Amino acid sequence: MDRMSDAALDVVEFMLTASVYSDDRTLDENDLPPSYRRVYWTGSADADGEDRGDGVSTPAGISRPLSMTATTAREATDVPQPWEAVSELMFTERDEFSGTLTFADRELAEQWFADRVDEERLLENPTLAKYFADHDDYAFDVSHEDARDRNRPIQADRVWIDGLLEEYFDTEDDEEMLDLVEVRAPEEVEMSLDDLVLTADQENELDKIAKAIEHREYLSQIGLREIGKLLFVGPPGTGKTSTAQALAQDMDLPFVEVKLSMITSQYLGETAKNVDKTFEVAKRLSPCILFIDEFDFVAKTRRSDEHAALKRAVNTLLKSIDNISLIEDDVLLIGATNHPDQLDEAAWRRFDEIINFPKPDYDMRADILRVITRQMDIDEFDPQLIAEVTQGLTGSDLRMVLREAVLEALTEDRTRLTQEDLLNAVEEFEERDTLKNMDMMGGDHDALVAGGDLGKASDGGHDHSHDHGHDHDHDHDHDHDHDHDHDHDHDH
Ligand SMILES: Nc1ncnc2c1ncn2[C@@H]1O[C@H](COP(=O)(O)OP(=O)(O)OP(=O)(O)O)[C@@H](O)[C@H]1O
Ligand SMILES: [Mg+2]
Repeated sequence: MDRMSDAALDVVEFMLTASVYSDDRTLDENDLPPSYRRVYWTGSADADGEDRGDGVSTPAGISRPLSMTATTAREATDVPQPWEAVSELMFTERDEFSGTLTFADRELAEQWFADRVDEERLLENPTLAKYFADHDDYAFDVSHEDARDRNRPIQADRVWIDGLLEEYFDTEDDEEMLDLVEVRAPEEVEMSLDDLVLTADQENELDKIAKAIEHREYLSQIGLREIGKLLFVGPPGTGKTSTAQALAQDMDLPFVEVKLSMITSQYLGETAKNVDKTFEVAKRLSPCILFIDEFDFVAKTRRSDEHAALKRAVNTLLKSIDNISLIEDDVLLIGATNHPDQLDEAAWRRFDEIINFPKPDYDMRADILRVITRQMDIDEFDPQLIAEVTQGLTGSDLRMVLREAVLEALTEDRTRLTQEDLLNAVEEFEERDTLKNMDMMGGDHDALVAGGDLGKASDGGHDHSHDHGHDHDHDHDHDHDHDHDHDHDHDH
């Protein structure tokens, strides 16, 4: 019975919202709760999508009056049988022929609703918050502004993003574009800040940027514009991408991800244009986060002897980065790289904050283990002890260890793990890791060094191209018995 009245309240709220919104032209899409506006949003695929002259700022929209039928009510409220939920109330009516739901007596409906709604709920609905706050007969202590602040902006909705992408990228370019850029609505981002273990330094930087976003108007007033471009630096698997995504989720911002290595896989003539469009989309999606992964690719391309079209694309990218701003465009730019040593000065100076993503230390590893095992049953679980035997592993490695342990246990039909399982999985992982490193000895030496303190090859900045005669005994670790220069084939 409670459920019945909940459903009735949901449907009446929907009907009231639709009729208030239809009447009050000062309201816009950000006054509708996301689940409602999703129903009414029309993408740019409309027949009149050609008309670019007027509605410049929005590719499409919501047109009045909002239709109230069992179908729209069901989609908006998730009540399976909306009419049945309200048919017994004396102020509702349904047109049998068109299926339209209406109020026989709207004043009564308002009263009925006001008796049942609380302020917390009203604040979730800016349209009704405004209506009831302004209405003399009711004394709700809510403000329209608060409700709007709480409501997710339309730019964060998937429907809006899809409409925008459709407008910008016609089907011909589509496939290439999708390789280069991916746009996610915050509702689709699964990573949250709760799932991440951050260093004090990282937390501090993220706090700063959250404050900067909150106070962009003030920053603009005092002329501080060089802000809002972050570079995440650190070895693979240390949480760079996850942190950027979690920020998007935390701040309810769309997440636009550009994969630079994909630039090369494109038809080169189009690449510079696509880079331009990507930034254009980010500006239109704003406020949003623009995440540029593999940033070292930029520097690499500039240095090397690449195809001219590729260089042009990279130069376009750099120029676009210069021309985008958190303060003016509401776009937070985050770059990420595993190879900070490969970035040239031109790349570095484009970022105003560098955030280090080191491999996790002992305490962080223990915390990461706690976070990733939150939903698991583990007997005698001792994260400290696992942390002790996993020196040098990243968050991503630890995840892999846990996955291994879970799968191993499943082969014995167990969903309950033991500390022993975890220790075995760590051992397994290290065997695997040794194999991987051996392979890298012969191949990409850079990757091995950047991988850091695995106990081997920690001679990061050492220059192998000179000094072959006397590169012994400068107290490097014990890496000299590895012949990591065998591709040079020098004689002894
Ligand atoms: N500090 C951390 N706390 C919790 N989980 C972490 C942490 N670091 C990494 N992880 C986990 O490891 C996985 C990989 O992380 P992510 O993809 O963010 O790494 P990355 O730094 O972007 O790596 P790459 O340089 O290879 O792109 C994710 O599932 C993430 O949740
Ligand atoms: Mg990443």
